[in-house]
Amino acid sequence: MKKRIIVALDFDKAREAKNVLIQLDPAQCRVKIGKELFTASGPKLVKDVISQGFDVFLDLKFHDIPNTVARAVKVAADLGIWMLNVHASGGLTMMEQAREALEGFGSERPLLIGVTVLTSLAKEDLQQIGINRDPEEQVSKLAFLSRDAGLDGVVCSAAETRLLRAQIPDDFCLVTPGIRRAEDAIGDQKRVVGPAEAIQNGSNYLVVGRPITRAESPNAALVEFNSAITSAS
Ligand code: C5P
Repeated sequence: MKKRIIVALDFDKAREAKNVLIQLDPAQCRVKIGKELFTASGPKLVKDVISQGFDVFLDLKFHDIPNTVARAVKVAADLGIWMLNVHASGGLTMMEQAREALEGFGSERPLLIGVTVLTSLAKEDLQQIGINRDPEEQVSKLAFLSRDAGLDGVVCSAAETRLLRAQIPDDFCLVTPGIRRAEDAIGDQKRVVGPAEAIQNGSNYLVVGRPITRAESPNAALVEFNSAITSAS
C-alpha cells in the first residue's frame, strides 16, 4: 500500500506527539514535524520518531541565502528524514543549491518540496509585498520554478490541486493540507476537501492534523482516511 497520509504532529511537547505516535502504525502513515514541535524538541525527537519506523516530513520551510539553505538542507537530510521543504520564493538559485546539497544521498535522498504561496495570503496581502498577481497565478509560477530547479513537488492547498495537476506532469508531487471528512471540525482552515476528492484532484500526499491527532482513536480515524483514499484511487 502506498502511504499517502502524512499526520501533522502539531504539538509543543514531545510527550504529546509520542502519545499519538504509539497509537499509529508506521506501515499506514507518515508524519510531519513542523516548526512548533521541532523548536520544542529538536533533532533528537526527529531521530526517535524515525527509529520507531516512521517516515518524517520535516516541515521547516527554509528560506535564506542559497548557501545557508543548502547547508541546512544537508544537515536535515543527515537526520534520515523522508521529505523536507523550502520556500520557492527564495528563488531559483536557492532551490537549485538546496537540490544539489542532496546529491550525495543517492537513492536515500529525501524528497525536496517547494512552498509556493502560503494559503494565509490573499491577493491584497500579495500586493502589500509587491506582487501584483492573483494568488493562483503566483502559485503556478512558483510551482514551475520549483520544477525547473529540480524539486520533487510543491505543497498546495486543496483548492489549488486540480488546477495545478492539469498544468504539471504526474511525476511532480502535490502535497495537500486542508483535508477533512464530512464529520470533522473545520477549525481554522478556510477551504477544505475530503480525502477522496483530494486524491481525485491529483494530490499525491495528504497532510492531516487534528482530524487524526485529536480523534478519540487516532488509529480508527487513520483507517477511515486510508479506506476513503483506497476507494478513490
Ligand atoms: O490540523 P490540520 O489538519 O488543519 O493541520 C494541517 C497541517 O498542514 C498543519 O500542520 C498546517 O500547518 C499545515 N498547513 C496548512 N496549510 C498550508 C500549509 C500547511 O494547513 N497551506
